[in-house]
Amino acid sequence: MEKRENWGSKIGFIMAAAGSAVGLGNIWKFPFTAGQNGGGAFVLVYLIFVALIGFSVMLTEFAVGRRRQLAAVGAFKSVDKRWTFAGVLGVLSGFLIMGFYPVVGGWALAYVFKVAGGLLNNPGAIGDSFGAFITNPSAPLMWMVLYLILNVVIVVKGISSGIEKAGKVLMPLLFGILIVIAIKGLTLPGAMAGMEFLFKPDFSKLNGSVVLAALGQAFFSLSLGMGCMITYGSYLSKSENLVQNAAIVTAMDTAVALLAGIAMFPAMFAFGMEPAAGPGLVFVVVPTLFAEMGAMGSVFALMFFVALTVAALTSSVSLLEVVVAFLIDEKQFSRKKAVFSSSTVMVLLCILASLSLGGVGPKLFGTGAFDIFDLLTDKIFLAIGGMLLCIFAGWRLKKEDLYDEVTNKGTVEFGLFGAWYGLIKFVIPITIAVVAFNGIRQGFESGSGPIMILGICIIGFFAAISKKL
Ligand code: PHE
Repeated sequence: MEKRENWGSKIGFIMAAAGSAVGLGNIWKFPFTAGQNGGGAFVLVYLIFVALIGFSVMLTEFAVGRRRQLAAVGAFKSVDKRWTFAGVLGVLSGFLIMGFYPVVGGWALAYVFKVAGGLLNNPGAIGDSFGAFITNPSAPLMWMVLYLILNVVIVVKGISSGIEKAGKVLMPLLFGILIVIAIKGLTLPGAMAGMEFLFKPDFSKLNGSVVLAALGQAFFSLSLGMGCMITYGSYLSKSENLVQNAAIVTAMDTAVALLAGIAMFPAMFAFGMEPAAGPGLVFVVVPTLFAEMGAMGSVFALMFFVALTVAALTSSVSLLEVVVAFLIDEKQFSRKKAVFSSSTVMVLLCILASLSLGGVGPKLFGTGAFDIFDLLTDKIFLAIGGMLLCIFAGWRLKKEDLYDEVTNKGTVEFGLFGAWYGLIKFVIPITIAVVAFNGIRQGFESGSGPIMILGICIIGFFAAISKKL
């Protein structure tokens, strides 16, 4: 077998994996999902899931990828064809996430230009302007296509190393601006109510839907459950410490999410905005906050949206790459053909998703395309994908092989190996099954139940035809 290409350096790998993890999930999705799910209790459950399930699943993805030396589908298929579907499910998740992610990426890109064009001059109109923008049938489509073209160019040219270099500079910048926003927000009168909302758990707010939302957020934010980190792990050199890498990426991702929360909520409470404001949160709060700071504020806002766009790009490139790698490895497409055919489908999905926000286009069980793609992936496919991976690693692979892989043949100390193995073999699969079951049951009260059941049926269908995939 040809020797597999390796990452140039340790820091190169961490930046790529963190680049995939840190994205719209942290800065756009985490704050508004926390807001919609009641705040503190959601955040606490999210943190517990990240530490116990997220970290363990990431380590499993790295270990399986490096052990098999293959991308997502191949890693499963080469062991047992009955498991091919678990990899294919990841590819489907990649498609569906790319059916709405570029829509939001396009908003971020658009806001770079809107801020430059003087959006902050009229702070009172920022909220309405966002609402009008995303429900407009044509403008967001143009930005989405532009954003997707950036992805296509990067992936076709195989120059993701270029974008990672940009990430190396812009990620710390993003972190820095979030700190500026947080400090500014915290000094506003009434800001402490926001911190309380975010960090003081009100357990009466917990129910099956909130817990499933926290689980889904953990998977989405860490780029888990769809083969992305398996693929990245397959390029990792045999001498790298997997445990340490998984811990660093998990910690960085979580730090950015929490910081984004601290940047948003105090300001929102100070401005008297609704915490459950929904997907517009960052796009309204950040410009409104910076509008108070005069010309400097515009510069900060501009840097923020540039950095957000790049953070989104380093994530969506990894999503597109999972789909493209599948078409190249398993379906013998050329790279060009793989990128163009998959992105054509993605554009169509994104058009449906974008239009659905203005109430246009087909609905399923009363739900528009944007929410369908989000529900299927965030609530069902990623978590169940992670569950399948844990069952596969725990029950289908040999314990000694996993031990060798995770400890680099016993040369790296990992005192918690036994605990991790018990988690992936028993605790995580059972926990995910229980959380999914309760979340789906509760979903029947809010209308999302039928879509989630549809998701389970899709997984069952793929499992049944696994050997033919
Ligand atoms: N983790 C990315 C984000 O937070 C999204 C993502 C999900 C990327 C799954 C790859 C795989 O924005």
